[in-house]
Amino acid sequence: MYNAFFGFAESPFNLSPDPAFFYRSVQHEEALANLIYGVQSRKGFIVLTGEVGTGKTTMLECLRDYLYAHRIEFAFLFNSRIKPEEMYEMIAYDLDLRCDRTSKTEVIYALNELLIQQVAEGRTTVLIVDEAHNLEWEVLEEIRMLGNFENRGGKLLQVILAGQPELDRKLDAPNLRQLKQRIVLRCNLKPFGEAETVEYIQTRLEKAGMGDNTVFPPDLMTEIHVRSQGIPRLVNAICDNLLLTAFALESRVCSVEMLDEVTTDMRLEWPGRRLRLRSSGLSPDVRAPQPQLARGN
Ligand SMILES: Nc1ncnc2c1ncn2[C@@H]1O[C@H](COP(=O)(O)OP(=O)(O)O)[C@@H](O)[C@H]1O
Ligand SMILES: [Mg+2]
Repeated sequence: MYNAFFGFAESPFNLSPDPAFFYRSVQHEEALANLIYGVQSRKGFIVLTGEVGTGKTTMLECLRDYLYAHRIEFAFLFNSRIKPEEMYEMIAYDLDLRCDRTSKTEVIYALNELLIQQVAEGRTTVLIVDEAHNLEWEVLEEIRMLGNFENRGGKLLQVILAGQPELDRKLDAPNLRQLKQRIVLRCNLKPFGEAETVEYIQTRLEKAGMGDNTVFPPDLMTEIHVRSQGIPRLVNAICDNLLLTAFALESRVCSVEMLDEVTTDMRLEWPGRRLRLRSSGLSPDVRAPQPQLARGN
């Protein structure tokens, strides 16, 4: 809506996990390198955790690009509220297995053939599960069994489980001890620090076609960091709303007043919010208590 007004070639703060807008913070870079290393060295199970909106799905999309580029076969389960038989069907579909996809036995047989053929060609195969904290026990147990395929050189199927921190707690359960023991790599995404939030905003503006940031003054970016608590999804939502507000007011620069309006509309909470509202003469009590963070991808 506001793209032409600000001179953007595309929307800078889209909420989709688009690798083209990937900002390589030190921790994102390190996590991606770890995922790639884990896959290439055939380590077996890898776990990626992070709070909602910290960039897990975006990271998996980057990994997906890497796997495509290196012609590594993979299955990507983005819906984790599934039954075991649905999981086998989805794996068979993604890996294009020629078998009766509704038969677990046939899928496992065909998968085994594929894994052996791939490894003979010097390649591995990957199973990626996003939102893995939602997986049911019985599905996790099936996934653990899939991790059993191996030869002398290592595991034949690399499994990446990505999810919210509950995933770690789930994997601590006594009945998942066997699976937990097989996890060889763990990556955790944390919210950005202030310098990263600023760099993140600038990177996105740049990728959208605004080389020099002229819309968000430095003190505003500091305040965006405080209110988003460094969570990329919230940074995006705030910045997008700010640009929309500025556009509506025909202003090319965003202000702290606009930010107040935006974060009120978003019903956002952050440490020290009450203090700031009191000093600005606004009543904190008219605001709702919790941020409405969309769960999911
Ligand atoms: N490193 C990053 N570079 C660019 N955008 C990011 C990055 N991390 C997160 N985002 C953006 O933040 C939003 C939430 O990211 P997402 O990957 O969906 O988080 P999660 O899966 O952890 O809930 C998306 O709009 C995504 O584009
Ligand atoms: Mg996600």
